[in-house]
Amino acid sequence: MVIEIRNVQTLDGKKITHAIESKKSQIIEAEGLTMLPALIDPHVHFRVPGAEHKETWETGSKAAIAGGVTTVCDMPNNFPSTSTLERLEAKEKKIQEQLQQSGIPLRYRLYLGANSNHFQEIGKTKQSIAGLKIYMGSSTGDLLLCDLPSLEEAFRIAAQEGVLVAVHAEDEHLIQLNRSKHVERTDAAVHSVIRSPEAAAKSVALAIALAKKHGARLYIVHVSSKEELQLIRAAKREGCTVYAEVAPHHLFMDENAYRSLGTQALVNPPLREKSNCEALWEAISDGTIDTIGTDHAPHTLEEKRRPFGAAPSGFPSIELYLSLLLNAYHEKKISLEQIVSLTHTRPREIFGFPVHSDVVLVDLSKTKQIDDARLHTKAKWSPYTGRILQGWPRYTILDGTVFDLELL
Ligand code: NCD
Ligand code: ZN
Repeated sequence: MVIEIRNVQTLDGKKITHAIESKKSQIIEAEGLTMLPALIDPHVHFRVPGAEHKETWETGSKAAIAGGVTTVCDMPNNFPSTSTLERLEAKEKKIQEQLQQSGIPLRYRLYLGANSNHFQEIGKTKQSIAGLKIYMGSSTGDLLLCDLPSLEEAFRIAAQEGVLVAVHAEDEHLIQLNRSKHVERTDAAVHSVIRSPEAAAKSVALAIALAKKHGARLYIVHVSSKEELQLIRAAKREGCTVYAEVAPHHLFMDENAYRSLGTQALVNPPLREKSNCEALWEAISDGTIDTIGTDHAPHTLEEKRRPFGAAPSGFPSIELYLSLLLNAYHEKKISLEQIVSLTHTRPREIFGFPVHSDVVLVDLSKTKQIDDARLHTKAKWSPYTGRILQGWPRYTILDGTVFDLELL
């Protein structure tokens, strides 16, 4: 049996009827819709175990499908952190139960968190994990690896075991030093001063040096500054296996957001001065950036509105980034081919996901305002609320099952 997608537009502008194998026959009249491969989001925080009041895989999988995403890589900064095989298996069990509840068999892979007490776990888990996640600077959770001997060891073992090393690259020592210089400030904007571009660049430089020395494959998550881009460009030119991910908030937001959002605008790495956004768009054009990872990091509004110092960092965004990108396509900032490469092809190649039939059908002409009440994330807010975007997903097809996003 097949799902017959009639009169759908392809990327090269042809109108076709596309068939996908399924357990049940179905026809979608897709006149006016454009078909893209379903998205792979290599950076989500679905908060299981330990922070289920922010998100679960039941709500997270709905938010993913609403955004055209059928595959995610989930981060290990859980409570407890996912840094052993045993914890990885316990986490997987919970995920399976929650996906059963949601009725959405989302495809996923989990990261192992780097912890110097558990380096023997890298070899034990290498077959199943997305990669080894190293927090070189502290963020949500207790994962942190910032002393040189431990970093050397982590890179060495990962390279030996053939495991991808994903780094949150912000230099912890520099962050602490900057913080000590600004203790009197309580405004949210100081976050961008403390977690400076220099702190990110210093850490990226070290990660690249270690990857080169040990022959590790390096994936730099949420690259946010010009300084980092320069280092990544140079490393790529030298033939180093380094991949760069950008998060939507570093493309679509800048540090002006503190004025309207206050502590709600906190994220790690922080929002930057606007010229960095432009540099990131350029880096998309010239191929320096490989992937878009949402860094979907939900916290409740109550938590986000706490005073600076007590408010956590991170934004939910998985169900909106495709629309943000399609809107940017209308603004001539990016092509549809580039969107597919960043959200599907490159992540699939880097993480070695198999080719499958999942697609998302988008209505490029639909214009809609972002409304918190209609979001599927448990956090029920977004830093983009109120924006009017042109280009919205209409159907997501996952493993032969059609999700009508108006009925989700
Ligand atoms: C993330 C979170 O809350 O889990 N927060 C963030 O600001 N990006 C952690 C992280 O990815 O650093
Ligand atoms: Zn991070």
